[in-house]
Amino acid sequence: MPKPKVLATHPLFAPARKLLDAQFEVEYWQDPGRPSRDVLLKRVAGKDALVCLLTEKVDDELLAAAPKLRIAANVAVGFDNIDVSACTRRKVAATNTPGVLDETTADFTWTLLMAIARRLREGEQLARSGQWPGWNLDQLCGADVWGKTLGLLGFGRIGRAVARRAGGFKMRVIYHDAVRAPEDSEKKYNVTFVPMDQILAEADFLSVHVPLLPETRHLLSTVQFAKMKKTAFVINTSRGPVVDEAALVAALEAREIAGAALDVYENEPKIHPGLVQRNDVILAPHIASASIETRTMMAVMAAENVLALFGGKRPPNILNPEILS
Ligand code: DGY
Repeated sequence: MPKPKVLATHPLFAPARKLLDAQFEVEYWQDPGRPSRDVLLKRVAGKDALVCLLTEKVDDELLAAAPKLRIAANVAVGFDNIDVSACTRRKVAATNTPGVLDETTADFTWTLLMAIARRLREGEQLARSGQWPGWNLDQLCGADVWGKTLGLLGFGRIGRAVARRAGGFKMRVIYHDAVRAPEDSEKKYNVTFVPMDQILAEADFLSVHVPLLPETRHLLSTVQFAKMKKTAFVINTSRGPVVDEAALVAALEAREIAGAALDVYENEPKIHPGLVQRNDVILAPHIASASIETRTMMAVMAAENVLALFGGKRPPNILNPEILS
């Protein structure tokens, strides 16, 4: 029996390759850059499975180019790059990697939060510049983190992991979500549900943890920034389009808020030029989950989803289980 054919759009990590190589004929994308759309469409033709990154759009066009495809296994928890309905129509399983990256992403959210509050970027530049005149009382004074109000927009797994860490900083934590969490979760994480306008008005740090959906696109825009404290900071480790970048630049320019720390962007890898020049902004290149341990686990999870499907089992992280019945 010929082995099923898999296209992996990344060399992945050794533990994931070991799983896949044992059962499939796998073509790994080896170039350091991402495959262009044309190349992707050519390479996926004739494949039975696709292991892809969030940079690959899995839509009707791609599915049409790969009529034998049975699964698109995303190596990411966010799956806004996958048209799940299109997959369902064609009976292709779509999977993601939830859970394994929550703590790592929460760690990085705090990295960004602390860095913007305490002006780490400017401090680091000064320390390296050879121009540091030495200690001074009012040098690079930032904002305190401890004792402040943390606002979480979205209270899913990652929002909760961020909330748990806030206890160490004696912070008050408020959250807003489309669905209110059960009372015991609110108690466990010591958080209070508030309406959107209240979170905007009261958060000293507003951290975004919602998936990208039509209703969350530009959740933070001109109107919302105008309602925030002038001393507040926005942190985004979710998806770029949740924050209206042009409106953010305008709000920073008008000093409606104090700063922003971003890991994700509206048109990655492009970043709004108005953000790039600013000192009151920290910019990271979508690396919130990028620890070696976590990224390896994500790749392994994607491989396990493929293995499960071809082993006649339900892929553990299937997004469209209805195709199995
Ligand atoms: C995801 O998994 O959705 C992140 O954005 C990358 O870890």
